[in-house]
Amino acid sequence: MEHQYDVVIVGAGLSGLRAAIELGEGTRVAVLSKVFATRSHSGAAQGGIGAALGNEEEDNWEWHMFDTVKGSDYLGDQDAIAIMCQDAPKIVYELEHMGVPFNRTPEGRIAQRAFGGHTSNFGKAAVKRACYAADRTGRVILDTLWEKCLQRHVQFFDEFQMLSLIVKDGRCCGLTAYELATGKIHVFNSKAVLLATGGAGKVFKTTSNAMASTGDGMAIAYRAGAPLEDMEFIQFHPTGIYKLGILISEAARGEGGILLNSEGERFMERYAPTIKDLAPRDMVSRCILKEVRAGRGIGGKDYVHLDLTHLGAEVIGQKLVEIIEFAKTYGGVDARKEPIPVQPTCHYMMGGIAADAAGHVVLDDKKTPFPGLYAAGECACVSVHGANRLGCNSLLDTLVFGRRSGIEIRKFIHAHGLCTIPDDLEDLEAAKIRYLMEKDGTEKLGPILQEMQTVMMNNVSVFRHKETLDEALQAIRALKERFHDIGVHDKGSCFNRELLDVLELRHMLDLAEVMTLGALHREESRGAHSREDFPERDDQRFLAHTMVRYEEQAEPLLFTKPVNITRFEPKERKY
Ligand code: FUM
Repeated sequence: MEHQYDVVIVGAGLSGLRAAIELGEGTRVAVLSKVFATRSHSGAAQGGIGAALGNEEEDNWEWHMFDTVKGSDYLGDQDAIAIMCQDAPKIVYELEHMGVPFNRTPEGRIAQRAFGGHTSNFGKAAVKRACYAADRTGRVILDTLWEKCLQRHVQFFDEFQMLSLIVKDGRCCGLTAYELATGKIHVFNSKAVLLATGGAGKVFKTTSNAMASTGDGMAIAYRAGAPLEDMEFIQFHPTGIYKLGILISEAARGEGGILLNSEGERFMERYAPTIKDLAPRDMVSRCILKEVRAGRGIGGKDYVHLDLTHLGAEVIGQKLVEIIEFAKTYGGVDARKEPIPVQPTCHYMMGGIAADAAGHVVLDDKKTPFPGLYAAGECACVSVHGANRLGCNSLLDTLVFGRRSGIEIRKFIHAHGLCTIPDDLEDLEAAKIRYLMEKDGTEKLGPILQEMQTVMMNNVSVFRHKETLDEALQAIRALKERFHDIGVHDKGSCFNRELLDVLELRHMLDLAEVMTLGALHREESRGAHSREDFPERDDQRFLAHTMVRYEEQAEPLLFTKPVNITRFEPKERKY
């Protein structure tokens, strides 16, 4: 079945929906999502969105910019970070006007709370910068934007899985997709495509991410010739529920929660004397694992305690409702009376499809645009997070760059028509699916998926070393070989989950290889990338973005792109 649209947006999380709103009425916009739109992973964001409103304490966008640059371990592009931090207040007020029910100060202003790495006056003390709706901030923003999209007659294709991008003479002209309910192939001919497909946490065994976070957009863009940037930088959030990885928001520490080791010591005081438990995530995750390695994990195990018992009923009842429920349901703990067992959990990809601040996917170190192709949100690397993202900057990133992509796409579609695309695309994609379904595979999905997740968790997570990274690369490449022999046992065409899992696994294997290659290349420690064999940051050799391009029949090609430094020169990062 063929469709024609001005713009197809893939992904119904915050960046996709914000772009759709910007494109608005008068433009034919389709939003494709492999889950029902409001089940997008943005809805799981808990703690808040960062903006220097100064509603609770003095603040300004330049302090926000400084914190973001420092948090990124000086790898973030400062031109893009300045845009994000300057746009932030406008973005939040816009949400307020759309009807997002933020918590309020007693005077009726949007309430704000402290978050990791956010400070006042260039690092002097923690500052309240995260605007929040209890611990359901992503949920309420997602629902609000979705309603706005319905008002603007944005057409949703829920439960559609993107298969490939249509590229003709170097321009992106649309995409093909698989309809889960029927097994039908759809061809979308469009003037522009925006990828807003989120992250890839499912590459790792322990993650806070939803089942759908399998990096489809990143992998499909990569196979279509778009380079991936800084994929070695993977954020481990310090407080996932022990063994499950489900998120306990940083807001819990923003509201006064503390981390304790087996000796009952508030160990973050030793590592980050100024902002303690509110140090950035890369540091706190490393500190937890250092405590565990030193034998101070709880009961000698690989977790520590997050203590909220002193916060009181009012804070918990008004600001941390959901995490108390999560701790009870998934951890079996009443967090009002006892500490929550927590450990680092894979949470966020700082890297992604190389893109600029206007949303263009870029092809090289000169930022040459890939005509017709745009990316925003977690699947894109703009790069505003560099080597480590600060909490509450991800919702901000999605909305700032979702909006800016919408503005830029509008210009492109006014200047360009639809392409003439080949008329056999539907048949070609259907043949590929048939081949997967009909072949007698000797390999099964489950073992390959589990091995990939285990190898990545053991060898490419918080601490890394050449030896274990080499092992990981070998293992991932062996799994890629085995993937060729995979069979799909469910032959049905109605909600064939197994087929979808196989398609997603192929994407994740590509990404796992790129992450590991980047981690091997970067012989230094910076932000979330901590090499035990190269414990220092090395600005001489590595103050540059890692770019990886897919090569047919050859190893991925690695090259670098300069970091944009406008204002804050790299310094030692202390908190
Ligand atoms: O901890 C959190 O609530 C997560 C926020 C974020 O990743 O920005």
